[in-house]
Amino acid sequence: MKDTPIRVLFVCLGNICRSPMAEAVFRRMVEEAGLSDKIAVDSAGTGHWHLGEPPCPGTLRVLKKHGIRNVSHRARLVTPEDLRRADYVIAMDRENLMDLRSMDREGVLRGKLHLMMEFAGPGRPREVPDPYYEGNFDYVYELIEEAARGLLEYIRKEHNL
Ligand code: 4NP
Repeated sequence: MKDTPIRVLFVCLGNICRSPMAEAVFRRMVEEAGLSDKIAVDSAGTGHWHLGEPPCPGTLRVLKKHGIRNVSHRARLVTPEDLRRADYVIAMDRENLMDLRSMDREGVLRGKLHLMMEFAGPGRPREVPDPYYEGNFDYVYELIEEAARGLLEYIRKEHNL
């Protein structure tokens, strides 16, 4: 087992709705599995509009409803260093995926870039829809929770955890 943790980075556009939700939900699962010292969780965005802001009210509301409080994340941009250091870069939708690919001039993302919904069961949509305008936060939570479970299972298998 390597000493540095396995790094998981969730990415969306604004880093205020979907990726901070995924970060918080996945972190709780990692904690519940007793793997906090093995798996490090973070999130970032590809757009600059909300830098420094806390997660949006819909995300905070739905997290609270599911018992997750004290979310300290502040919106930030994905950096080249993030992409180098991460082991798993998890994009919420195809636009995020394409933006990440276009940032990756050094090819460091090879083998680490995934769509979040790859880890959910069959019959689910392939993308986590953007709730910023639609406001469907409960549905987004449901998708994220299912995919986060699948992701944790995948990582545990890959790394024998
Ligand atoms: P997120 O949602 O990518 O899930 O954080 C959005 C937040 C803000 C904007 C778009 C999506 N925006 O255009 O400002």
